[in-house]
Amino acid sequence: MPHEYKIASMPGDGIGPEVIDAALDVLDAVARYSGEFTLSFDNLLWGSDFYKATGTYLPSDGLETLKKYDAVLFGAVGAPDVPDSVSLWELLLTMRGSLQQYANVRPVKCLSSIEPVSRHVRPRDIDWMFVRENSEGEYAGQGGRTHSGFGWEVATEVAIFTRHGVRRIMRFAFETAASRPRKLLTVVTKSNAQRYGLVLWDEIAEEVSKEFPDVKWDKMLVDAMTVRMVRNPQSLDTIVGTNLHIDILSDLAAALAGSVGIAASANIDPTRKSPSMFEPVHGSAFDITGKGIANPLGAIWSSAMMLEWLGEKQGSMLVMNAIEKACAEGNTTGDLGGKLNTKQVTAAIISMLANPVRAYATGTTNVFPQFAEYGDFDNDLGLVNFEGGSLVMNVCSSRDNKHGHHSTTEVIGTKGRILVNGEPRILPVDISDEHGTRYLDQLDHMDHTDMFLPTFKAELARF
Ligand code: NAD
Ligand code: IPM
Ligand code: MN
Repeated sequence: MPHEYKIASMPGDGIGPEVIDAALDVLDAVARYSGEFTLSFDNLLWGSDFYKATGTYLPSDGLETLKKYDAVLFGAVGAPDVPDSVSLWELLLTMRGSLQQYANVRPVKCLSSIEPVSRHVRPRDIDWMFVRENSEGEYAGQGGRTHSGFGWEVATEVAIFTRHGVRRIMRFAFETAASRPRKLLTVVTKSNAQRYGLVLWDEIAEEVSKEFPDVKWDKMLVDAMTVRMVRNPQSLDTIVGTNLHIDILSDLAAALAGSVGIAASANIDPTRKSPSMFEPVHGSAFDITGKGIANPLGAIWSSAMMLEWLGEKQGSMLVMNAIEKACAEGNTTGDLGGKLNTKQVTAAIISMLANPVRAYATGTTNVFPQFAEYGDFDNDLGLVNFEGGSLVMNVCSSRDNKHGHHSTTEVIGTKGRILVNGEPRILPVDISDEHGTRYLDQLDHMDHTDMFLPTFKAELARF
């Protein structure tokens, strides 16, 4: 039986509903196509209209309600006629804090054919994973106002750094860095000026680093970090910082990679005691609300992160591949230089999903030109992913002219998904092991397997 996940969808305000609609359509499509899981969505209308009608953003049992779900998909909150400090604190920041989603993960990379905005940056230079402390620091909510209404009014906003809070985010960041091929971490700090909280931050980074001897790490003051992101982007991989620092740096990163409209994020409770929440990085975008032109990629990418967190790696990769392919073919909104609206970009992504052989990845190379004699390979890109990397290959032909077969093969994730004569066959094959490669050997139309196995193995060895 496919696993069923219960998702709370909370579109919120502004362009939130527009991009969450797009994400839900894509999620429906990937669940249908995959056949491995089903998703049920409850639409929670908690946002500024709800607040104006009821006087509250979150119903009194709201947090308990959320705990019944496997994950939350969130759009944006913030309305022109409600103070941002009210809308954000009563909804988004309360959820992040109360559900102890202490790790905010924000991947940023240049999608296919999107030009970075700076001439110093080449597309391949940006492939970053931001880890943001999401429960304390500058967003601890400690402070207050005294002498209100008098000339000597005073306000405090106290940043809180706890040993527990810093240690858990550092561990998460080092683990994240260790799981990526470059095993490289940059710890962002400002301990030259902030001599208590951020000195503790640095000390704990140093302590935790000892648990991860394989991770190469360095420390960077946040001001110099902005320069490094623009001038030396390829020197960065995983980046950890405080709540406020990464809020700012992740917007800069998204802009460098093309647009804030593509930026995705996951508010993770790594203990899995509470559901995690997935949301685009951007806000309500009052200036484009209702125009139907919002870039849905941040929300759709966040949905892919949700699938990955739920354990549906294949589904997640299918969505990411579809995003890449849609971008590569120029199906983008205006913020990325394209001409399409939100619905058209979403439709393009769904059509990529519907045709599995069109799954696509950045940096595609035809590593098996020998196969050209078999037919039209334009549509025959397969993505093989394995521990530590991925390889795009023409696995076989959709129109095998030579042998008269009509089969397509797609290998995604650690499992192989094979369509033979249009019939899906899901194979529990780990492509990176002997068994997996043997399976490919057995496919009847793969009679030239020997030809590509050495190339495949050589590619594997590079990682
Ligand atoms: P914003 O992200 O809403 O907009 C900044 C700029 O980016 C605008 O010009 C907007 O049109 C553009 N933009 C944002 N998302 C886009 C998309 N998907 N496609 C194309 N263009 C996009 O930031 P802001 O203007 O500072 O904030 C507006 C409101 O949203 C405020 O109330 C703020 O507090 C709130 N906000 C909420 C969240 C959230 O819910 N996570 C995040 C940021 C801001
Ligand atoms: C984000 C947003 C929020 C934050 C705001 C709206 C409170 O900017 O998710 O990046 O600062 O965390
Ligand atoms: Mn932000």
